[in-house]
Amino acid sequence: MNLAVSRGASFSAILGVGGYRPRRIVDNAEICTYIDSSDEWIRTRSGIIERRWASADETVQMMSVAAARRAMERADVEPAQIDTVIVSTVTHLYQTPAVATTIASELGATGAAAFDISAACAGFCYGTAMADSFVRSGASKYVLVVGVERLSDMTNKHDRSTAFLFADGAGAAVIGPSDEPGIGPVVWGSDGEQAPLIQQTEPWDRALVKAEGDAGDPHWPTLRMDGNPVFKWAAYTMSKTAAEALDAAGVSPDDLDVFVPHQANMRITDAMFRALKLPEKVVVGRDIAYQGNTSAASIPLALEALLDSGEAKSGQTCLIIGFGAGLVYAGQVIVLP
Ligand code: ACO
Repeated sequence: MNLAVSRGASFSAILGVGGYRPRRIVDNAEICTYIDSSDEWIRTRSGIIERRWASADETVQMMSVAAARRAMERADVEPAQIDTVIVSTVTHLYQTPAVATTIASELGATGAAAFDISAACAGFCYGTAMADSFVRSGASKYVLVVGVERLSDMTNKHDRSTAFLFADGAGAAVIGPSDEPGIGPVVWGSDGEQAPLIQQTEPWDRALVKAEGDAGDPHWPTLRMDGNPVFKWAAYTMSKTAAEALDAAGVSPDDLDVFVPHQANMRITDAMFRALKLPEKVVVGRDIAYQGNTSAASIPLALEALLDSGEAKSGQTCLIIGFGAGLVYAGQVIVLP
């Protein structure tokens, strides 16, 4: 039997990005009331000057919808045109349903295919890779990719290795058909043997059993991280992955305009910049200074900041790479919207 198969656009591209940054600014002085640290240590070891923590009304859904509306407006795409919604998050506190479905209906993307993915700080690049494939295969025409986190809900504010690092926010992109190539091949993978390096302290069932036994102490699970091995993996192994993504797209370091790695630590960004031998003219995403590490949201937020400030411009080539809990990673070259 001759089964009909779908065929899509020759190329896809990011048509617009948007972000949402929570209202409450948390500076290093406040962090130092929770942990034994200093403004100087946090700035020099991570590059973070301040971060934003969401208030009660700034839910995963609310932040996602706000970021998505900006992305759709800039892409000039109406909600009804969005046929697929992919949301990457590790901090939506419902196991089911996916937050993507309610985001789609609140936006007016009625009937869109909608699902969540769990790929931590690589989530935006995973989502971008899927959206690119969907548009080129004909499975979708316009895909909304959202990276959103309320990491402050899952952070132990008294843990010296994470309290100053993790933050909240949402970033979104609309990906659709394009006359020119706009998203290069993804280089992605995982290393589950290193899963214990960043993980939830305990599963929900164990936490809840303990809570009942401890008369009201909720033992809320949080994220724990062995920062130093993750730092080394990110700075060295991920630089090689980033180089492979450049190579796969046929872009040399000299041809690259913009570099936006996951905003994990300014020193990781600097180490990757050196390892990739990028020329000084390459504009680098440094959103972590005022945003902290927002996991899946960090890359679209940094892209938005560079485009809004005029440091990066539409049509430029940009290398993005995400890496984090799993361990998981993904990188690709994109053309900026
Ligand atoms: N304040 C002050 N001192 C501190 C703090 C702190 N908050 N934390 C650690 N120190 C001290 C340590 O005690 C140690 O002191 P010692 O030398 O006297 O023993 C010293 O600082 C160095 O400690 P390290 O843990 O080796 O610090 P490091 O340079 O590795 O920086 C950091 C820590 C910033 C967490 C870094 O390891 C990092 O950024 N790791 C990677 C994070 C990342 O990429 N995560 C992936 C994504 S996250 C996700 O998926 C959600």
